[in-house]
Amino acid sequence: MTDNIEVVASEPLLLPERKKSISLMFFRFICVVLLAVAACYLFVSNFSSWTQEFEKEVCDLSAGKWISKPEGPSYTDESCDYMASYTNCLKNGRPNRDFLYWKWQPNGCDSPPFDPLKFLNAMRNKSFALIGDSIFRNHARSLLCLISPVAKPQEIYHDRTNTGTFYYPEYNFTIYDIWSPFLVSYKLEAYLPTMEVYLDKLDSKWTEKYDKYDYMLMSGSHWFYKRTIIYDNNKVIGCHYCPDLGLKDIDSDVVYRKALELTFKFITTSEHKPFVILRTWSPTHYEDGEFPGSRICNRTEPFKEGEINGDPTDLSMRNVEVEEFEKAAAIGERNGVKIKLLDTYHLSLLRPDGHPGAYRNYHPFDSGKKDVENDCLHWCVPGPIDTWNELLMKIAIP
Ligand SMILES: *[C@@H]1O[C@H](CO)[C@@H](O)[C@H](O)[C@H]1NC(C)=O
Ligand SMILES: *[C@@H]1O[C@H](CO)[C@@H](O)[C@H](O)[C@H]1NC(C)=O
Ligand SMILES: *[C@@H]1O[C@H](CO)[C@@H](O)[C@H](O)[C@H]1NC(C)=O
Repeated sequence: MTDNIEVVASEPLLLPERKKSISLMFFRFICVVLLAVAACYLFVSNFSSWTQEFEKEVCDLSAGKWISKPEGPSYTDESCDYMASYTNCLKNGRPNRDFLYWKWQPNGCDSPPFDPLKFLNAMRNKSFALIGDSIFRNHARSLLCLISPVAKPQEIYHDRTNTGTFYYPEYNFTIYDIWSPFLVSYKLEAYLPTMEVYLDKLDSKWTEKYDKYDYMLMSGSHWFYKRTIIYDNNKVIGCHYCPDLGLKDIDSDVVYRKALELTFKFITTSEHKPFVILRTWSPTHYEDGEFPGSRICNRTEPFKEGEINGDPTDLSMRNVEVEEFEKAAAIGERNGVKIKLLDTYHLSLLRPDGHPGAYRNYHPFDSGKKDVENDCLHWCVPGPIDTWNELLMKIAIP
């Protein structure tokens, strides 16, 4: 009885419910078909832009590996003579030339070689300032050499600090190569026993022409490792690397951070808004040689990932750069200034074979001398430093 009542009682409810669910199923089926068609359409039409998005997301210029490049560099010491003599490794007689046949393959990115015509066309009516020390000159000269197969500049200014201005008349393009090793102001004079650095004042060498720059590439330099008395607000606040003076010791990374803070403050608050790029620290590769006290770098091939950790002080300088860059880029974004990081630290760390070493001098062993001076700081031109410009191009002309 109770069973029947239940059946009867539930019967009227059951029928409309079943009907409803059948029509609902049909409706859902139509929806699924429509959604599938729409998804297919979207997928096909957006496939290429999706993959580009994807590439953008995973492309990291600073991570990757050095792979073989059988065709070698696009110029030699014979086709370009803008390199400083101490970086002209080919002319200086370096016998091992394997270092010329490597190419940086960044993870997830295409990495075309430097395209001088594309670069010059993008730079028409523009100016590009490179600001730093001798590593910067090294970098700038690699750029002039990479451009040299298609155009040669006029050197329209040069002074005793090696600040120079190069002009490409066909493109109305100017390169400023500006000597400013601390970015902040400093004093290095014969009458001063110790160099002085002023943390509250930017170096006018680069700020005075700031309004002229469309692009500006800068970095701190190994000058922060030198013996310096540090000033802030007209007071001595300490000293780097001079325990004999009885002043408070200040680490290079502390001084560098202050210098970058002031530099970025200027950049993010100026009316003029160039495209600003900070290049990260250039690592050295000094190793002990066979003679007492001799420091050499005579390796002939790149390190593999994990084979080198690098100098912890260099790494701390690079970390300061990344931290200060991230802060500045966020402020820049709010203020309409584009600030980018050219992070060449790690890829350069993997290239102990890219320095002049003994071949900083012309045919160094010709005189029979064996214990010669080595340069494991600057980079051979041509050499791995050309890669910095290839990546620069990807950042500045996307
Ligand atoms: C460069 O400047 C000249 C003269 O002002 C102008 O005629 C030309 O269109 C400019 N070119 C570009 C690419 O801006
Ligand atoms: C060169 O470029 C500048 C802008 O940087 C422009 O003012 C000038 O007119 C250009 N000159 C020529 C000859 O195109
Ligand atoms: C590098 O120099 C060291 C010390 O002079 C020597 O033992 C080694 O064989 C050299 N390596 C190469 C690749 O020339």
